[in-house]
Amino acid sequence: MDRDIQSRKAPSEIVATMCGDTTICMPARPFPPAYPHGSLRELFPGIYFVTGSAVMPGPIPMRFSRNMTVVKQGDALTLIGSLRLDDAGLAALDALGKVEHVVRLAGFHGMDDPFYKDRYGAKVWVVKGHVYAAGFDAPKTPRGQGYFEPDVEMDATTELPIEGASLISFECTAGEALLRLDRDGGILVAGDSLQNWGTVDRYFNLPASLVMRLMGFIKPHNVGPGWLRGAKPEIARVKAILDLDFEHVLPVHGEAVLGGAKEKYRPAILGLS
Ligand SMILES: [Fe+2]
Repeated sequence: MDRDIQSRKAPSEIVATMCGDTTICMPARPFPPAYPHGSLRELFPGIYFVTGSAVMPGPIPMRFSRNMTVVKQGDALTLIGSLRLDDAGLAALDALGKVEHVVRLAGFHGMDDPFYKDRYGAKVWVVKGHVYAAGFDAPKTPRGQGYFEPDVEMDATTELPIEGASLISFECTAGEALLRLDRDGGILVAGDSLQNWGTVDRYFNLPASLVMRLMGFIKPHNVGPGWLRGAKPEIARVKAILDLDFEHVLPVHGEAVLGGAKEKYRPAILGLS
């Protein structure tokens, strides 16, 4: 199925962007492939979470994990932090409903958004100012010159495709936001800002596990170290996370934090300077 769709419709040159806090600059190519991933797990009624991987090519390729959150509302599915699934994964996704929306919260993610746009005709929502560009080039790439154009730019006033959802933007380089779902005590869906890699998981290869541990990524309830360096958010905006009501965090990196999330992240957030 993927091959058919790609050969029929894939753009001849899509510069793949980066997943992760480290840079990647792939050569022009069609949609990135589906990398190894697990199964969709229902964490809350109608909220699904799947862990997969991204590969950073180079002389020593690094592979590490990332997550996609799927919110089902009626028959409509919204993908947050899109992660291309393999054929079996897409079949499981299709069994849940119809993919209608893709939401990009992290300026250093988004490489699979064009795939879902192409396959489902999904509407793609991004944080205002987001540009689809390779690696860390997003902040330097003029709007309109990215490799892909979204449908909607979001800010705090935007009516979002999920009932009870609100956007909390960090207004930082490359663009980054949290999506808060007003249910179950408050659920924050995060991009690179709030991470929870308490340990390396099965999607890490050895180089990534060594390098990312040294770089400070492998800590539970962590503020993304690469994001802090690359996106340079105002620390006051990050600390304002603690003013939000939330019990759970669904991060793009690491395990879901189910219950007591604000208190678990408090030390890392208050420790920022
Ligand atoms: Fe990331």
